[in-house]
Amino acid sequence: MLYQWAANALNNYVPLEADDISGLLEIPPSPEMGDMALPCFVLAKSFRKAPQEIARSIAEAFSHPHMTAAAAGPYVNLTFDREHYGGMMMDELAQEKVPQTGKGIKAVIDMSSPNIAKPFGIGHLRSTMIGAALYNMHKLAGYDVVSVNHLGDWGTQFGKQIAAYKRWGNDDLLAADPIGESLKLYVRFHEEAEHDDTLEPEAREWFRKLEEGDEEARALWTYFVNVSMKEFDRMYGRLNVRFDYTLGESFYNDKMPAVVKALKEKGLLVESDGALVVRLDDEGMPPCLILKKDGTTIYPTRDLATAIYRHDVMKADRILYVVGNEQRLHFQQVFAVLGKMGMDWADRCTHLPFGLMKFEGKKMSTRRGKIVKLEDVMDEAVERALAIINEKNPGLEQKERVAEAVGIGAIIFGDLKNHRLNEVDFSLEDALNFDGETGPYVQYTYARTQSVLAKGAAGKDGAADDAGTGEYTAAAAHLGDSGWELLKLLTRFPEQLERGVRSGEPSVLARYALDVAQSFNQFYNKERIVTDETSVRKARLRLTQLAGRTIARTMGLLGIQTPERM
Ligand code: ARG
Repeated sequence: MLYQWAANALNNYVPLEADDISGLLEIPPSPEMGDMALPCFVLAKSFRKAPQEIARSIAEAFSHPHMTAAAAGPYVNLTFDREHYGGMMMDELAQEKVPQTGKGIKAVIDMSSPNIAKPFGIGHLRSTMIGAALYNMHKLAGYDVVSVNHLGDWGTQFGKQIAAYKRWGNDDLLAADPIGESLKLYVRFHEEAEHDDTLEPEAREWFRKLEEGDEEARALWTYFVNVSMKEFDRMYGRLNVRFDYTLGESFYNDKMPAVVKALKEKGLLVESDGALVVRLDDEGMPPCLILKKDGTTIYPTRDLATAIYRHDVMKADRILYVVGNEQRLHFQQVFAVLGKMGMDWADRCTHLPFGLMKFEGKKMSTRRGKIVKLEDVMDEAVERALAIINEKNPGLEQKERVAEAVGIGAIIFGDLKNHRLNEVDFSLEDALNFDGETGPYVQYTYARTQSVLAKGAAGKDGAADDAGTGEYTAAAAHLGDSGWELLKLLTRFPEQLERGVRSGEPSVLARYALDVAQSFNQFYNKERIVTDETSVRKARLRLTQLAGRTIARTMGLLGIQTPERM
């Protein structure tokens, strides 16, 4: 709203539409300079003057009942009349409106997508957390958004899995540690296959049977899928993540022949060493493998069928893939093949890559012995959170529940505060530091807003109520400088959401949550909120309430809970 007000006020002095002016506006680097700044560089052409001179002449001519202007070099700095605007800002904030930029647009988000009978990897964790945040952000911005967990539940490895199980499988061990045991079988298969030539053909035969719908093969496959899902679901439950669809690669098994046929008809398939590929020389990429020598399909083939299904059947206008950066080429190839097939919507498929994450310097690896188990990391985070709570606030009610929210929140925030392409070296100690740039710090600040409000409500008619309109107008002048800065920051929520959605970056919102928390703490330290003067107290409590709501809302988008007490 500040942008709009400033743009309207400048409209008489600048030969541009208000919307364009709004797009140029900046926030001055320090609050003493003003509330909004217009850089005059782009105006130099139409004014035929130097930016400094333009700024000076605009500032001189400027006259407005509730704003003042001053030139600072090539900038016009505007200062708002707090009394006039403050109450309006609070009233508008209370409505929690967000521009519905995604209205009428259907977005499918491909996220999490772990592999059956393999450990849930760190990449899958990042994909789950980033994907869930993007899902919430798109939803709030008005998109018709659908999440899909694209399970890795198909491929020749399942033939190996079944063959190994038939030889050495032990149901008790599998029940006790489904994924660990599945993995052991898989590893053993490879070890023994080195000196046992009968294993590979056996595995191929099982996969062939599976693809043809053989009952026993299907039953064993289902068993592996179910035990893995049980473990994955435990993790999703703790992360509070749900999917609209869980459609694994197997779902596209019967949809691939049509893709292969279409590729053939368009003359795009060529032979290469017995396999069939689509050449991508013109695109400067290596060929995309479609059918292996033995005629079986592979990962890219399944992704082609998947994308077409999402467009044709799910009616997706946009498809977002939240998948690690190491698959960049894969997605470029898949999108390029779609383009070659004449799918004009291929450019509305977007790979949103992310970097590696390490735990305390240790890499996650699915190779034997080197696995950092994610559930162990979660347990440890919660345990440490509980220890901190026991130290800080031993009398707290429902400590276990709060510790779960803080521990898990620390992990999610520790990831999402980073630009997604950055590599994250995750340290539990840092992530749980209540004074750092962390989830617990933001959560703690939220709890502080709630205890201030409770204290305010306990005092003489001090509660911040929702009624509002105009009531706080005069008092908005008494928020203090820090309160005014906080209020302005709160009005920027819609802008941050839009930026986050546009760039596919939850970190924009995580940073915003930190900024709001810091700004509130400054206000809290500088101003007495629960003062004796009713109108001032009410305005300050109202601001506290709005800050709390903004924090809770932003953290909610990131998939992080905000306990009322900590
Ligand atoms: N299961 C894959 C893996 O773990 C990720 C799948 C990502 N999504 C997709 N549509 N390819 O590497």
